[in-house]
Amino acid sequence: MKAVILAGGNGTRLGPITKVINKHLLPVGSYPMIYWPLIKLKKAGLTEILIVTNKEDLASFIKLLGTGKELGVNITYRIQEDQGSGIANAINCARDFVDNQFIVLLGDNLFSDHLHPYIEEFIKGSHKAMVLLKEVADPKRYGVAELDEANQSIQAIIEKPENPPSKYCVTGIYFYNKHVFELIDLLKPSSRGELEITDLNNLYIYHEELHYEILKDWWLDAGTHDALFEANKYFYKKSIDPEVK
Ligand code: DAU
Repeated sequence: MKAVILAGGNGTRLGPITKVINKHLLPVGSYPMIYWPLIKLKKAGLTEILIVTNKEDLASFIKLLGTGKELGVNITYRIQEDQGSGIANAINCARDFVDNQFIVLLGDNLFSDHLHPYIEEFIKGSHKAMVLLKEVADPKRYGVAELDEANQSIQAIIEKPENPPSKYCVTGIYFYNKHVFELIDLLKPSSRGELEITDLNNLYIYHEELHYEILKDWWLDAGTHDALFEANKYFYKKSIDPEVK
């Protein structure tokens, strides 16, 4: 299975530093943020990885990671032409990279669960699409799932709701197959001008095709100053397993 890491966007909540440095290159522990999702994929045996980023940041990613050889992975790069035009728009950049089933990681999502059980579930379950949820204290910041726990299904996802229907946020770990590109073609930009991941996932819900699992361990979206500080506390002194490297 191939993997896609999204590392574009504007990183406005981490300003002013993100005016000159891409969020995913900021330090988390002793490494740039992007190392952590790369290592997660490597540990799960996924080594064919696409990084989608902004035109102006591409050279920095190439300087840092090159072909990925040093980390034991094979990295391909794509530019998201319209910077910040949405997560679904960024996924669209993987259209000619993936084979069929693939995983997407938002590059600012940091977590401790191993990915392989979820990858196995996605493959064995023949799911059309799958998201990973996490119970959080502050759901208003995220896409939030309205759950029908009895039937183990998601009724709807609401992006940054005023009145969250649950405490379960939809994390930036998504599984799709190639059919997703047909659905992306149906999306219209939201009021903030983005092709929204939540609109995409709601299309799957409409067709009763969105499976979910719940992350068991630590998870964080490092997109704010407070969260970046938390991430640094968590990863402080954590080194990369030499076997992975
Ligand atoms: O962290 C989980 C949350 O991520 C989800 O619960 C939300 O449903 C989802 O919309 C997203 O919310 P954020 O407000 O955190 O999204 P943000 O704009 O910060 O972008 C998240 C990642 O996606 C970040 O690593 C950069 C990348 N991205 C984002 C946009 C808008 C791109 O590569 N291109 C883009 O155009």
